[in-house]
Amino acid sequence: MTTLDRVVGGAPGRIEGRDKVTGTVRYAYEYPVPDAVYVWPVQSTVARGRVRSVDAGAARALPGVIAVLDSGNAPRLRPGKSDELHLLQSADVAYRGQIVAAVVADTLEGAREAASAVRVEYDEEEHDVVLDPENPAIYSPGKVNAGLTGTVDRGEVEEALARAPAGVDAVYTTPAEHAAPMEPHATIALWEGETLTLYNSDQSPWRSATAIARLFGLPEGAVSVVADHVGGGFGSKGELRPPTVLAALAARAVDRPVKVAMTRQQMFPLVSYRTPTVQRVRLGAERDGRLTALWHDALQQSSKLTEYTEQTAAGSRVMYAAPASRTVHRLLRLDVPTPSWMRAPGEAPGMFALESAMDELAYALGMDPVELRIVNEPETDPESGLAFSSRNLVACLREGAARFGWAGRDPAPGVRRDGRLLTGTGVAASTYPVFISPSTATARTEPGGGFVVEVAAADIGTGARTALTQIAADELGVPMDRVTVRVGRSVFGAAPPAGGSMGTSSWGWAVSKACRALTAELDGRSGVVPSGGMEARADTTEDVQASRSLSRHAFGAQFAEVTVDADSGQVRVERLLGVFACGRIVNVRTARSQFLGGMTMGISMALHESLEVDPEFGDFVNHDLASYHIATNADVRGLEAHWIDEDDGELNPVGTKGIGEIGIVGAAAAIANAVFHATGSRLRDLPITPDRVRAAGHVP
Ligand code: MOS
Repeated sequence: MTTLDRVVGGAPGRIEGRDKVTGTVRYAYEYPVPDAVYVWPVQSTVARGRVRSVDAGAARALPGVIAVLDSGNAPRLRPGKSDELHLLQSADVAYRGQIVAAVVADTLEGAREAASAVRVEYDEEEHDVVLDPENPAIYSPGKVNAGLTGTVDRGEVEEALARAPAGVDAVYTTPAEHAAPMEPHATIALWEGETLTLYNSDQSPWRSATAIARLFGLPEGAVSVVADHVGGGFGSKGELRPPTVLAALAARAVDRPVKVAMTRQQMFPLVSYRTPTVQRVRLGAERDGRLTALWHDALQQSSKLTEYTEQTAAGSRVMYAAPASRTVHRLLRLDVPTPSWMRAPGEAPGMFALESAMDELAYALGMDPVELRIVNEPETDPESGLAFSSRNLVACLREGAARFGWAGRDPAPGVRRDGRLLTGTGVAASTYPVFISPSTATARTEPGGGFVVEVAAADIGTGARTALTQIAADELGVPMDRVTVRVGRSVFGAAPPAGGSMGTSSWGWAVSKACRALTAELDGRSGVVPSGGMEARADTTEDVQASRSLSRHAFGAQFAEVTVDADSGQVRVERLLGVFACGRIVNVRTARSQFLGGMTMGISMALHESLEVDPEFGDFVNHDLASYHIATNADVRGLEAHWIDEDDGELNPVGTKGIGEIGIVGAAAAIANAVFHATGSRLRDLPITPDRVRAAGHVP
């Protein structure tokens, strides 16, 4: 087929869009499973200690109660990697909100009422839930997430800083944040002998199935996860979470199918959050703006249960050509729930710090912040020395500056005032690594000339199903309506999560390989399908391993215009414009939506989102959507996403880099930099709330 006929690069709407808006698709909790009963968790009211006793007498006496589980009677799990998932296996309490008991009843309301009647007594111990940079228990883990090295040193950074004629040394903080997907975490667990089916709201059906099998000591394949449609995840459904284990455990205990759906409040301690960070960035530069030293130190927290270290300084390893650099991750393990992935884990908070510091450096040097980034453009990856497969940060900056109308900007801070409103503009760069994991996929012929492709991908609202159908249709050389792509089921075979922006690249590679193999076989038979049909299965493990050693990253540039109310301190993002370079764009419509979604989440990160920890009780105080603020329609004004056409042949057969996460990266820094330009006050702590703006004394 000619290039003109290809659908990759087009803008088809979501295949399941109509079904979604008419309410006919099924989400995890909605599968009709006969005889299902309900489980409701009892959550710890202390942050640290031991359960002394569970008095279930009153709960058991209530009508419809089938079982009350605690660590004394719950089915046993195999020891495994994450204690977070070892529900009801021990009386120890590691965080407030941890599941210490659970009630199974024949109605949801009955389970809920009975759970409130369970009396739990604790031997409470003193807890520590505060990320205090002076805490002596802080340490530097050898490895951080994504398999990265914790601390990387290049050159003599201290010496270079001391000699530098210009520099920045500042501390930036970001709060804990909650992913808050629209569909709460929900599961139906159904045991049939030694096999388990889980209808699960899940970003990673195949990995969840294998993880649950391991926990229950079952052979691979004994657990099957169904996640046909998922109402958002943003990372919080990327790893197996406790509610799924609870459903499986309860169903095992009562020998009935069990349903669980988190309430919004239950989600806050139970389904993960983004770690808070305290980051110190030190930059040294020549007068012409060239960096001589970059030192990025990121302090984060994890729980006592799991060492989870976010790769917060990773962006600083790839961005700029500083000859001397040190990137350090430090961790403090507290009596808190375990943090986990949230959109652009690492890069989102890390690039807020680096890109704020770059703006501070531009002011220290009297240099345009776009030009400062351009003069520090590296030839090769600064850390590894590897060539970039493609790198178009400069193109993004230039195109963004042109589209935004950056030229002729007066850099003077705090001088543009219209009545009560101060105005300012700011810029920041974005980056996100190209992750690709091996995947499997199957393609087969259908009677009547159609094709079915199966891959254990998850469409969490991104349009993955549609993008994969485009990829399959092009490889098979047929229109999209002759191809049915089935996703969301672990039985389709090994596949990575909808996470790390790797989905389309990883699954797409397997889909394209399977379809290519089927096409080749069909061609060998002159297009005649045998009566039994034909099938081709692909596994990209070897292809992924055979990739050349190169540095692969997506880049982008974000430009923000804000107004700041000089009386109230309220910041409004009047415009946010992003230009991204992410390889081939498979679907113009869904890609744009991904970028806009990421940027909206960036506005939210900049201005609204913050989980407040209660030091006394050890919980998040604002654990609902009334008090945990998220940007909504009225907060989002001018939003524009653009991209550079990037033809990178060193990625995968489809040429994609991943787009799910880069949109949030850099957005908060661009907004904070614009707030400085508007007010003359440097706000280094997120979110930039009216009280913080007023406290900074912004009025010129
Ligand atoms: Mo994304 S936070 O890696 O699911």
